[in-house]
Amino acid sequence: MIYITRRETFNAAHRLFKPQWDDEKNLQVFGKCSNPNWHGHNYVLYVSVKGEVDPETGFLVNLKQLSQAIKTEVLEKLDHKNINLEVDFMKNTIPSTENLAIAIWNQLQEPVKQLGAQLHCIKISETENNFAEYYG
Ligand code: NI
Repeated sequence: MIYITRRETFNAAHRLFKPQWDDEKNLQVFGKCSNPNWHGHNYVLYVSVKGEVDPETGFLVNLKQLSQAIKTEVLEKLDHKNINLEVDFMKNTIPSTENLAIAIWNQLQEPVKQLGAQLHCIKISETENNFAEYYG
């Protein structure tokens, strides 16, 4: 079994809040990310897949095709968007790093299979100091 990772970046706006709470309670729980007028992050996404090396190509997966799948399924839907308002696969979900990792996993699991590999890990960092990892 071998693992390979593709790194991608995107930026997006969000607000962490629960509509049934007032701004004060949201600030208490979500901190600066609860700012009512939105804010953005420069996200870094690491998509790790696993499988066996194809002896014919020496590749586990064609990284160009993997990158294209990530673009179609994730980046085109997220990049320069407001995650709360514009991203279909994040509807009715608090746009935390954790929930983004899970949603991106769900977006990519099937496309990665079609490339002949298995999704291993979605790692996403919201800031230099915070990242989440999801292994399914
Ligand atoms: Ni934030």
